[in-house]
Amino acid sequence: MDLRTRWLGLDLSHPVVFGASALTHTLDGIRQAADGGAAAIVLHSLFEEQIRRESEATWEAVDRHAHLSAEAMGYFPEPDTFATGPAAYLRLLEKARRAVDVPVVASLNGSTATGWVHYAKELESAGASALELNLYFMATDADETPNEVEDRVVAAAAAVVADVKLQVAVKLSPFHSSLPHTVRRLEAAGVRSVVLFNRFYQPDIEIETLEAVPRLTLSDPRDLLLRLRWIALLYGRTSLELAATGGVHRPEDVIKAVMAGAEVVQVASSLVRHGPGHIAALRDGVAKWFEEHEYASLSQARGSMSLLRCPDPAAFERANYARMLQTWRTG
Ligand SMILES: Cc1cc2nc3c(=O)[nH]c(=O)nc-3n(C[C@H](O)[C@H](O)[C@H](O)COP(=O)(O)O)c2cc1C
Repeated sequence: MDLRTRWLGLDLSHPVVFGASALTHTLDGIRQAADGGAAAIVLHSLFEEQIRRESEATWEAVDRHAHLSAEAMGYFPEPDTFATGPAAYLRLLEKARRAVDVPVVASLNGSTATGWVHYAKELESAGASALELNLYFMATDADETPNEVEDRVVAAAAAVVADVKLQVAVKLSPFHSSLPHTVRRLEAAGVRSVVLFNRFYQPDIEIETLEAVPRLTLSDPRDLLLRLRWIALLYGRTSLELAATGGVHRPEDVIKAVMAGAEVVQVASSLVRHGPGHIAALRDGVAKWFEEHEYASLSQARGSMSLLRCPDPAAFERANYARMLQTWRTG
């Protein structure tokens, strides 16, 4: 079974990519990711806050956060909290490229289109195979319009694309007013792929201590459904490569994402749970299923359940929503 695929200009032997996670903080972790069968490895992110802290003398200089209260500022991690500072990140990336023979994608994580994005150049010089730009942002300011939110995403991506020769993927949140429009603008800005979607880690409320407690919960396959819908909707309507992240745990999750239209899937939670070797189990499970169902290649399946080709496209849109609510009965 031919599982080969392409993503960000890279020839990959199969579609299961090691997603950005805490498992790549050390060279040993990166080696285990490669030994575990990853087709490519996305490193954990280098954060805007880290880069700014290094390049700016004081927090007061941080334009975007200048309006935040001292209390709110306390939520930003101290520099020591980050596993790797910018210089250490570059060193790790250089070593990783020499240590493993699968592509290593560097990840930049931020929310503004300011100077920090030029760090992409450093990542390119350090040998990154491609770049993933994670634009994790909560639109909480009522004075900011949806267009302004989108402009910022596109400007950050365009700045990175202009700076490097590497192919760039943008990892997006699902909370855009018109995702297809955002994607179209990213395409025009020279981005090569969108990675759908960031998982938001919602703070819980402790009612006894009256605290908002941020918690990182691992995903489960239900998280995949939102990704499937959007990938199925976007497939064939954009030239961007579609990558799924969120809720891929079993071989059938990979197969669904490919059928929706994904070029690759990224996996994080299930590797935290089962270890890096789980990638090989996913890859082999996918190959087995496709062989049993007489597919010759991955590309034969790609997009077969997208909105363009799915026998019941309404299932992805509003029509099915109304039907489902109206016909649901207990038991
Ligand atoms: C422990 C952990 C650390 C993560 N670190 C990063 C990161 O540094 N950068 C990033 O873009 N995503 C990060 N993610 C998000 C994952 O890459 C992924 O997008 C998300 O967890 C959804 O995929 P999953 O369902 O396979 O976990 C992290 C996820 C986990 C569980």
